[in-house]
Amino acid sequence: MRPRRFSATGPLKGRIRVPGDKSISHRSIMLGALAVGETCVTGLLEGEDVLSTAAAMRAMGATIIRDDAGTWHVHGVGVGGLLQPQQALDMGNSGTSTRLLMGLVASHPITATFIGDASLSKRPMGRVIDPLSTMGAEFTASPGGRLPLTLRGMSPAVPIEYRLPVASAQVKSAILLAGLNTPGITTVIEPVPTRDHSERMLRGFGADLTVDIAADGARMIRIAGEAELKPQTITVPGDPSSAAFFIVAALLVEGSDLVVENVGLNPTRAALIDVLRLMGGSIEELDRRDVGGEPVADLRVRHSLLTGIDVDPAVVPSMVDEFPVLFVAAALAKGRTTTTGLEELRVKESDRISAMHAALQLAGATVTETEDGLIIDGTGGDPLPGTREGHAVVTHLDHRIAMALAVAGLASRNGIEVDDTRPIATSFPMFESLLAQVSGT
Ligand code: S3P
Repeated sequence: MRPRRFSATGPLKGRIRVPGDKSISHRSIMLGALAVGETCVTGLLEGEDVLSTAAAMRAMGATIIRDDAGTWHVHGVGVGGLLQPQQALDMGNSGTSTRLLMGLVASHPITATFIGDASLSKRPMGRVIDPLSTMGAEFTASPGGRLPLTLRGMSPAVPIEYRLPVASAQVKSAILLAGLNTPGITTVIEPVPTRDHSERMLRGFGADLTVDIAADGARMIRIAGEAELKPQTITVPGDPSSAAFFIVAALLVEGSDLVVENVGLNPTRAALIDVLRLMGGSIEELDRRDVGGEPVADLRVRHSLLTGIDVDPAVVPSMVDEFPVLFVAAALAKGRTTTTGLEELRVKESDRISAMHAALQLAGATVTETEDGLIIDGTGGDPLPGTREGHAVVTHLDHRIAMALAVAGLASRNGIEVDDTRPIATSFPMFESLLAQVSGT
């Protein structure tokens, strides 16, 4: 455990650049590892989760090297060419690595065992086991469809048409990736849109993938199997989910005026910005541009007094990872913020509804937990009391809980003691040093 107390700072000033997008980083390694030839990736997130993906792809035959300038070179094995891993694939804390790689393995003639840390081993895998079993893969899972599990892939696998029962980009991507090495057309029907990085990148690598909108508004995503992927040069845009912590920190800390550069603004990811603006946050887009086929801008964020709102549950999929830090913004806002439709938050790296409820309450916020969200009565801009000596908030091996509470600590009277900062390295290894940089501490 590495505990730390995060305390009030001076205003957040200057310019920072957040690390590469985690979702895009995972996918660029996976697809590079399936292309024939060399894919070059710059701006890759070098967090533990992405390194787990890279290690697994190496174990299945890809050559993946980082040069001294920080560019990653991926030599792929070709679709259908994954090799039998000689050891269990250790996914660490990463649900994205686990679920997407299960999709890849499912349509290859190999067997792989997936293991992970205590947090990942509690997370449900039934959501990918079900469709991948229909495609022909066989699973031996721990009780409740959890890790450790062993997957025996099927080749050739059977193409399916699958309507997603949960709004999950991971499940969608697992099926599309399995479809890559499956003869015929694999179809995923997505009633509620989720992040579309897999679709964009699969097309970029030359896969035959189409998206149509059905009469009921659902997205019908079709991928033609036995594809040949062509290697690409990829620039990974900055991660909006990492930027979120600095955006909220700058809104909350008086006198702040901070530019967060290179923030990915794919509409399937960017709803936090809209919600914070509705709450009164001053967030200005500078230099909107395209990076690696994704919209990007620099964001100038100035301290603002926020007002509570009812967050529309329709935006949940496009800010699903940002609720912990939104709860912190709400705790400092004027009036009540109500969130609903957040059932999925209970099966993230931790149960984020109950973890944030407990943590904010310990820090002196007024919070009520419901089945599918939190109701928060904010302080109206006054700092939170913070945690007392000897009382630390519990992060449950969840990087976003740790960072959200670090931000809350900046807006507290006595500081907030976070029990363990180690999980931050899964997605944002430079978080603490960037925070020190912008707050001049
Ligand atoms: C991700 C999808 C989301 C998100 C996760 C990354 C992805 O999970 O929470 O951090 O890269 O596809 P779900 O698809 O399970 O909602």
